[in-house]
Amino acid sequence: MIIDSHAHLDDGAFSNEIDMAMARARAAGVGAVINPGGDVASSKAAVAIAAAYPEVYALAGIHPHEAAGVADEEIGEIARILSAPKVVGIGEIGLDYYRDLSPRDDQLRVFRAQMDLARQIGLPVQIHNRDAHSDTLKVVREYARHIPAIVMHCYSGSAEMARELAKLGCYISLAGPVTYRNARKQAEVAGQIPLDRLLVETDSPYLPPSPYRGQRNEPAYVVETARKIAEIRNTSFEEVAAATSANAARIFGISPGWAI
Ligand code: NI
Repeated sequence: MIIDSHAHLDDGAFSNEIDMAMARARAAGVGAVINPGGDVASSKAAVAIAAAYPEVYALAGIHPHEAAGVADEEIGEIARILSAPKVVGIGEIGLDYYRDLSPRDDQLRVFRAQMDLARQIGLPVQIHNRDAHSDTLKVVREYARHIPAIVMHCYSGSAEMARELAKLGCYISLAGPVTYRNARKQAEVAGQIPLDRLLVETDSPYLPPSPYRGQRNEPAYVVETARKIAEIRNTSFEEVAAATSANAARIFGISPGWAI
């Protein structure tokens, strides 16, 4: 059994194919999939998918790409979605200074507002950080002790920063890029981070692991990422799958489709 801790099944790339993707995920041993939101509409879509598929759980949140001009009403709307069935946390939230699709002031404001929500309601968060390491660390440091769990989704930082985050009690989630031949940084992180801090994800439909590069990614392929991490750590796939699934189940309070 393995958990895909981050997959956008609501993305248009899956249109009418969620049934088939979930059937392949089940066949591959994926016992649960967490579908994050990126804005109000996709958070609602994630809730609807979670209602339709027993293995799927939802997060609600506003992505940094969508942060421009977000008003308090929209944060309030996210807060309301959080009380829907099978919504297990807030995400994906954070900072993206690589694509800079929203003004950085807005990104920081919306990120903090959602960290405040996590603190008030007592929910875990999934954080997106791209080329915004120092501001992300700053916000994480402020909130780490007040939020049940912080997961760094699709982690792309250094091993040094990962150690720093682990010290703060954060979790590191690795995705398909760890399987790429040139992924030296991710491989270093995969080898060094304690197993009790590690999660795996696909970030479907993006970033497929190496055997599937160029195709649409889907939850079944999370096994390739776990396999690669096992190879790097010189341990078994089963150990990585069991540890990362136990971490995700504990953090988000979910019961996987079948027993570990
Ligand atoms: Ni994502």
